[in-house]
Amino acid sequence: MKIIVVGTGYVGLVHAAVCSEYGHEVYAYDNDLEKVNAFSTGKAENIESYVNEPGLSNIIRETLGRYLFFSTYFESIAEGSDVIFLCLPTPPNLDGSTDLSIYNTVVELMAQILARRRDKRRVVIVNKSTVPIGTTRHLQRILSQHKVPNFGIASNPEFLAEGTAVDQARRPDRVVVGCDYEEDFKNLRRVYSQFVNHVRIKYIETTPETAESIKYVANTMLLTYISFWNGVGAKIGERISNVKIDDLRIGVTADERISTWGSFVSNGAGGSCFGKDIRSLIYQLRRLDVNTKMLEASYEVNEYQKIYLVERAITEAGFEFNNKTVAVLGLAFKKQTNDMRDASSIRVIESLLGKGVAKINAYDPLAIEAAKSVFSPLKNILFEKIVYCQTPKEALEGSHAVFISSDCDEFRGLSGTIENVVNLPYLIIDGRRMIPDYQELINKGYDYLAVGASYIRGNAKGEERPHLKVL
Ligand code: UDX
Repeated sequence: MKIIVVGTGYVGLVHAAVCSEYGHEVYAYDNDLEKVNAFSTGKAENIESYVNEPGLSNIIRETLGRYLFFSTYFESIAEGSDVIFLCLPTPPNLDGSTDLSIYNTVVELMAQILARRRDKRRVVIVNKSTVPIGTTRHLQRILSQHKVPNFGIASNPEFLAEGTAVDQARRPDRVVVGCDYEEDFKNLRRVYSQFVNHVRIKYIETTPETAESIKYVANTMLLTYISFWNGVGAKIGERISNVKIDDLRIGVTADERISTWGSFVSNGAGGSCFGKDIRSLIYQLRRLDVNTKMLEASYEVNEYQKIYLVERAITEAGFEFNNKTVAVLGLAFKKQTNDMRDASSIRVIESLLGKGVAKINAYDPLAIEAAKSVFSPLKNILFEKIVYCQTPKEALEGSHAVFISSDCDEFRGLSGTIENVVNLPYLIIDGRRMIPDYQELINKGYDYLAVGASYIRGNAKGEERPHLKVL
């Protein structure tokens, strides 16, 4: 198959790479020349500065120039293509609706070029990135208006989670394809031949509108599940004495109908999809006069979760942030990624700065460069108070409190570092329950405030606690 992937972000680049691995002739198109040049080198560091996914640069190095090609010139690659996947950015507008301006511009340009094609073989244009329900029909209208000959449309949403995207693209749990005509289903079956009739992978063929809806319902369901644990489970653990949240989680998820994934309480779920998709679905359903209270509650619980530990540090632990140095560990929205989109750390840092902290010592194993542009002092002068650190140890040095904001595995061993570099009294705010041996730290006098449990004041006696108000 000759496949074109339009857009080389997280979705497009992984999809292009994995399709090339299966022996298709894949052209990855992007209008960003610098990015395309970086990918065309096949060098890990150049690729990872844009998309840092485990295993991705290896595939690109293997298939580049044989099955995988990069281009900034759509006209030169359009001829003879069988399938075109659209993996374009669809950012949110302020009102939560989806901004389709980039999508529309690219589709218009593409339609003009496809209308001039010399070869008349059937080409299927596929929406792969998440687009509002009905966008595939809208795509069909644009292509028809431009009199593109012999085309089909499809919706084929992606369900990849960052950090494991390559593995999941190679072995997805399902492939969802929404088309109108058998010949288009047939074309996509050829693209995904390794998944059709697979014993474990569900290969689902349906209408374009259903395929689009599957994506929205899946993502909003996952966020709702996380919000249930954060809004109900965590609160029970925080407010009712002697309830152990980890045992609660294990006991509840022992029921095979209830998922373990999503039951880990946190300071909010971030990433490029959840917040954006739930707001978009709320917007879409409101326009149809559907009551969206349930979705709104999921979204609000998640947003509140991102900052409430800062509030609890003040109200429960009596911590005064004014003029303090706070270490923030974990800037990306989760471990194993440099993606800062909708990361809880953004809200945490904004909130800390709003409380008057003197300095923030920020650390992340992968996301420092991405964080620097998110926290540009040009956007907010207070971001000048952020100092980027090379190690957790460096971040902890000289700080009065630490806020753990993501689930990087290296934070699990943090208790030793905390003990060695910070002076008592010291407050540990654990947004991800990353310190399994916290009891030892408490015994040594450290104060511990974690999601899902009530505040525990350190046991050490006699030392001064100048940062704490007397409660
Ligand atoms: C998600 C969906 O999983 C994926 O199917 C969809 O295509 C895109 O959105 P992703 O954004 O990469 O993928 O991250 P995911 O691993 O799902 O985590 C989302 C957020 O939820 C992260 O901030 C994560 O730390 C948080 N989370 C996850 C929890 O807070 N608790 C959990 O138990 C699980």
